[in-house]
Amino acid sequence: METIAVIFGGRSAEHDVSIVTALSSVIKPLELTRKYKVEAIYIAKDGAWYWDEKLKDIKLFTSGGIKDFIAKAQPVSVQIDGGMTLLKTGGLRKQLQKIDVVFPAMHGTYGEDGALMGLLDMAGVAYVGCGVSAAAAAMDKVLAKQLAVANDIPVSNFLTFTKADLSRELSQAVKSITVSLKYPLFVKPAHLGSSIGISRVTNDTELKNALEVAAHYDDRIIVEEAVNNLIEVTLPIMGNDDPQPALLERPMTQAEDFFDFETKYMQGGKKGGSGKGGKGAEGPQGYSQIPAELPKGLYEEAEAVGLRVYKALGCSGTARVDLLIDSKTKKVYFNEVNPLPGGLYAHNWAKAGVSGIDLVQKLIALAEERHTNRQALATTFSTNYLQQF
Ligand SMILES: Nc1ncnc2c1ncn2[C@@H]1O[C@H](COP(=O)(O)OP(=O)(O)O)[C@@H](O)[C@H]1O
Ligand SMILES: [Mg+2]
Repeated sequence: METIAVIFGGRSAEHDVSIVTALSSVIKPLELTRKYKVEAIYIAKDGAWYWDEKLKDIKLFTSGGIKDFIAKAQPVSVQIDGGMTLLKTGGLRKQLQKIDVVFPAMHGTYGEDGALMGLLDMAGVAYVGCGVSAAAAAMDKVLAKQLAVANDIPVSNFLTFTKADLSRELSQAVKSITVSLKYPLFVKPAHLGSSIGISRVTNDTELKNALEVAAHYDDRIIVEEAVNNLIEVTLPIMGNDDPQPALLERPMTQAEDFFDFETKYMQGGKKGGSGKGGKGAEGPQGYSQIPAELPKGLYEEAEAVGLRVYKALGCSGTARVDLLIDSKTKKVYFNEVNPLPGGLYAHNWAKAGVSGIDLVQKLIALAEERHTNRQALATTFSTNYLQQF
């Protein structure tokens, strides 16, 4: 029986969302298959790793019992030994467990952004989802858009700035923006999700404030034109070399709720730009139209753009591509990629005919396929270099 380690929690604003993704959309269906031994690895907010059967119970987290657990538990060590082995020394006996596949169920920083994937690559263990570069590019709004542009994928016009650019010459930045971009504009920190630090602005004063807010959160900032007559859609995709789409999904929450303008977007500096987490509004069942009701041509266009983005970023395993459509001009723009969408977007896959149990099994198979292919690549090269010395 293969052993799958599901890693969740982590040093990220989306720590709590990750717990729910891991426990209900990954561990539960994996155990229902009866094909795998499933190990739960929880990364606490301070970055310590824990490994325990008790961590599979959502009540431990909802009741606050996790605090007591952490106070008593011994963190787990990870051995890198031609793969990955979990090692726990506290208690009566030493526990060792070799891992066959890691299932990262992490959202946001240090988990979805390539950092964990780098560690897993170094260990030489197979893992589910995107590799380092795809995950890192996806979690960087600037890089992702630049890669899209390099691949002729439409994005709304944008400019990028560093925090240093802005602190040196804020009015120069405002000038260059107003010369080449048209209001309304969106100002976003490159790396944060959940609308944190994002503003929609309609004049120079708001723009200036929004740039300052974004620079407070990140050292890279993107300013882009708003897509008008907006229809937002999102497309979960699965696969390595031959990615397959699920169904195009359109969140149907009222614009005010979905964007949560009052709290999410600083209006002329009044709200300070700090927002509530947006994950819950990202197309949960019941609030979404699946499949999105769009004219056939537009649906196919959006699906095609989604798949092109997946390939352009070099995604593997799974990812979800968010698109913005101008319903008047019928133009589809790429917005962003989520390498590990909350709950794996299992509700959407279910409608596309892939059950939660099939989904996790397919993802494990894709992880193993990618791992085998990567191992077959040459990584050694003989030279006479050392003989010179
Ligand atoms: N260029 C744009 N035009 C219109 N709406 C946008 C644009 N960029 C972002 N938005 C709106 O703001 C929301 C949050 O922006 P997004 O780039 O998805 O950041 P994140 O999801 O990481 O917070 C989007 O879901 C969309 O509703
Ligand atoms: Mg988004």
